[in-house]
Amino acid sequence: MVINRINVDGYKNLENISLDLDPKMNIICGENAQGKTNLIEAIWLCSGCRSFRGTRDKDFIGFEKDSAEVEMTFTDAVRQQEIKFAVNKGALKDKLVTLNGVKLPLLSKLFGTFKCVVFTPEDLNLIKGSPDVRRTFVDMSIAQVKHSYVNALNKYNQILFQRNALLKTLSAGYGDTSALDIWDEQLAKAGAYISVLRYTYSKILDKYTSQLYAKITDRREIFNLFYRSTVYGKTLAGRTDYEGELANEYLEKLKGSLQNDIRAGFTTIGIHRDDLESYVNGMDVRYFGSQGQSRSVALSMKLAHARVLKAEQGEYPVILLDDVLSELDPKRQQFVLNNIDGMQVIITCCDSRPVTEMKEGKVFTMKNGKAGE
Ligand SMILES: Nc1ncnc2c1ncn2[C@@H]1O[C@H](COP(=O)(O)OP(=O)(O)OP(=O)(O)O)[C@@H](O)[C@H]1O
Ligand SMILES: [Mg+2]
Repeated sequence: MVINRINVDGYKNLENISLDLDPKMNIICGENAQGKTNLIEAIWLCSGCRSFRGTRDKDFIGFEKDSAEVEMTFTDAVRQQEIKFAVNKGALKDKLVTLNGVKLPLLSKLFGTFKCVVFTPEDLNLIKGSPDVRRTFVDMSIAQVKHSYVNALNKYNQILFQRNALLKTLSAGYGDTSALDIWDEQLAKAGAYISVLRYTYSKILDKYTSQLYAKITDRREIFNLFYRSTVYGKTLAGRTDYEGELANEYLEKLKGSLQNDIRAGFTTIGIHRDDLESYVNGMDVRYFGSQGQSRSVALSMKLAHARVLKAEQGEYPVILLDDVLSELDPKRQQFVLNNIDGMQVIITCCDSRPVTEMKEGKVFTMKNGKAGE
């Protein structure tokens, strides 16, 4: 997937931007607060996902502007397509979204058309943050390749909510434990299915991340990633029978932790408590990784996800890298600038020095919301 052209006007501080992008490497260079991340965000919104900064629709529009407009032409494996969206101050709910000239009711309806992977400084939380950041990453990643996964997750969360409400009542000394049976069975079924998908995805992610991380570190560091299941421990390898054997085991474990759950007033084991663990040379990166190591691991994981998309769907997404070069040493910077093969990359940076080492691609300068070559 390659963006051919991006036009942005009135989106936050961006003004009259019209860029013909290089099919491989694009660098957006500029001082702080000039609009680099805003541009990355405008591109990201074309994927139909919500802003990775949590920006609300009304804040899309520049402070002194009446509307924000984004137009993108991109080419996927089959054809060239065009996405347009505009938000007007007077009609925030009525976004004008079109795909190849056909009106869509919502920006989210673009999901699955233009695919990109974004890496921002906040993605360091993928390593250093709490387990729910990693679970969300895995869940969103699986959802991109298997749309029905979202339904299973929603179902699990609904049942969990009901089960926890009942546990709270039980922990206060009221209610009847047999009322849990109906929730347990459903929770076990959904939980077993999600566990298998997460485990399978983690194995593939581990394979690709390890390869990329070895390259980034010039083979001096070895990376491993594990899915830690609170229900199955490390016994998920080779098991796929989520409707039978695995659902039964899940149910048994739920029954086994009943007294703990009642004491706690919530469900203490299950996919909502699982985690991804990352190791470099046998060391847990979450606790012992340096800044650069953690950033390299998080970046490798994001790029590995792009490879998963390629393996599953036949083409690479566009890679958006916001401010990734700082904190990386020159060798690792070189890897990012010259070794992300086969994908279009758009990368922002403040310091133009590493860019001089770039072998091919375009460099744009962002100044006060305006960009040029
Ligand atoms: N709705 C808006 N209207 C106008 N300007 C806005 C709006 N929202 C944010 N800005 C401004 O956009 C500017 C650029 O933000 P952006 O985050 O893109 O900078 P950046 O170039 O990525 O900087 P840094 O190198 O510090 O990350 C900021 O000064 C911010 O105040
Ligand atoms: Mg920025």
